[in-house]
Amino acid sequence: VTGVDRDGERPGQRLRRRAYHFARHPWRWTRYLVEHEVRKREVVFGRNPRFLDYRPMYRVSRPGLVRLTGRPALELDAFFAELEPLRTSLVREVANEPTAGALAQAPLLYLLVRAMRPTSLVETGVSSGYSSRFILEALDRNESGRLHSVGIARFPLAPNASDLLERMRDRPIGWLVPDRLRTRWDVRIGPSDELLPALLGSDAARLDFFLHDSYHTYDTMRREYALAMSRLVSGGLLMSHDIHNNRAWSEFVRERRLAPAVELDRDLGAARVP
Ligand SMILES: C[S@@+](CC[C@H](N)C(=O)[O-])C[C@H]1O[C@@H](n2cnc3c(N)ncnc32)[C@H](O)[C@@H]1O
Repeated sequence: VTGVDRDGERPGQRLRRRAYHFARHPWRWTRYLVEHEVRKREVVFGRNPRFLDYRPMYRVSRPGLVRLTGRPALELDAFFAELEPLRTSLVREVANEPTAGALAQAPLLYLLVRAMRPTSLVETGVSSGYSSRFILEALDRNESGRLHSVGIARFPLAPNASDLLERMRDRPIGWLVPDRLRTRWDVRIGPSDELLPALLGSDAARLDFFLHDSYHTYDTMRREYALAMSRLVSGGLLMSHDIHNNRAWSEFVRERRLAPAVELDRDLGAARVP
């Protein structure tokens, strides 16, 4: 991405991550590719290799996380170790459920929130609530902070969705977030174009962490980044998923001279506000 430091994942690293992950779980990956790519079925949470083993993602993202947070790698390793019980309980809770749109890199959000201890957080785009869950687990562990999430009410399912996906149709967005974490959570239902200006509108609003994962068009991404930047404090984090969908992220990071700016795993952009 032009103007973006790609320390988080260089092309060679990406290849190594994929080879490493495939070699560790050949059967899981074969089943995943057949179900996801060949049969075009939504893959259930408990079978998707990306949700079952976070280590390859962490391995390639570790240098980028160190640069972004300015924290020693060993400290990040300790936060990564905290993810194991969370991963186990998530798999136990939702092993046979479809994943529908979950942000695969959500475990990295946990590390960032633990390392940087933001207290005022906003994310756009909620489906099952995988990203919300990890952010909220980290806030709970930090014992401080509040997450505001903006999402539209329904899962975007095609009329002829598979039986498996049909199970999601009547589910509320954010169903992966348990009650014990909801005291720190404010969910607003509606398009970000309408709700974000009100949420960030007050002069008193200050923001430490913003994540875009809603509607990945150039206009929406640019609009969300600009609004977030107007409230992000110095040292705050601007983050975006799907940074390769268009030029919005690379342009914005270059124009605003955000540094360090890294790509974590694949497709997750993260930059510090100077
Ligand atoms: C990739 S998913 C988000 C995944 C989420 N971060 C998670 O881990 O559960 C994108 C979501 O954005 C929502 N969405 C689409 N357009 C939107 C908009 N204009 N404003 C807010 N949310 C939107 C869709 O309903 C979809 O569920």
